[in-house]
Amino acid sequence: MKFFVDTAEIDQIKELNDLGMVDGVTTNPSLIAKSGRDILEVTKEICSIVSGPVSAEVVALEADDMLAEGRKLAKIADNIAVKVPLTWAGLKTCKTLTDDGIMVNVTLCFSANQALLAAKAGATFISPFIGRLDDLNMDGLELIEDIRTIYDNYGFETNILAASIRSANHMSECAKIGADVCTAPPNVIKAMANHVLTDKGLAAFMADAEKAGIKIV
Ligand code: E4P
Repeated sequence: MKFFVDTAEIDQIKELNDLGMVDGVTTNPSLIAKSGRDILEVTKEICSIVSGPVSAEVVALEADDMLAEGRKLAKIADNIAVKVPLTWAGLKTCKTLTDDGIMVNVTLCFSANQALLAAKAGATFISPFIGRLDDLNMDGLELIEDIRTIYDNYGFETNILAASIRSANHMSECAKIGADVCTAPPNVIKAMANHVLTDKGLAAFMADAEKAGIKIV
């Protein structure tokens, strides 16, 4: 499973990228706003750090305007994936950009039917939002499972990019189901390293090392 990092914060992207933990980046208008930077400028900087797909989202609602924005975003770098919402206008834009050879990430997916439409429109990535479904007491992981089954039934090549990841547990569950990619905030990726027994075991080893006066360098 590929790891995308869901942020527009350069330092955090660099730190994880240097560790080989970043196969791509996703941003959205909220994350760009949080960075306080110009979308074109910050996206260009991210693309210069990460060689995998970098999703940059349109902000228009009509297909013609989305297309113009998508084409402008795609010119930033070869690894841009234009992110469009899962609306009828977004699907039209997806089809046109895909036909032009541009990667498209269809976002704000909350149902298997929406994912089926995105695949038919040739999306490179479909982004089902797990956490936002869980917030409503619905089952985000079940949606990933359903989309996996449907795409495999028919050989759709659209990559399932599990999004709105809230916990380390979401990451391993998505990997078990067979999501192609998970995009997660940096703190969730780092939290995957945590285990209470690791902390406990390390504390015991350190205490014994000190008692025995073990020195290595
Ligand atoms: C994905 O591409 C989105 O940017 C993101 O995962 C949304 O996550 P949130 O529901 O935590 O805002």
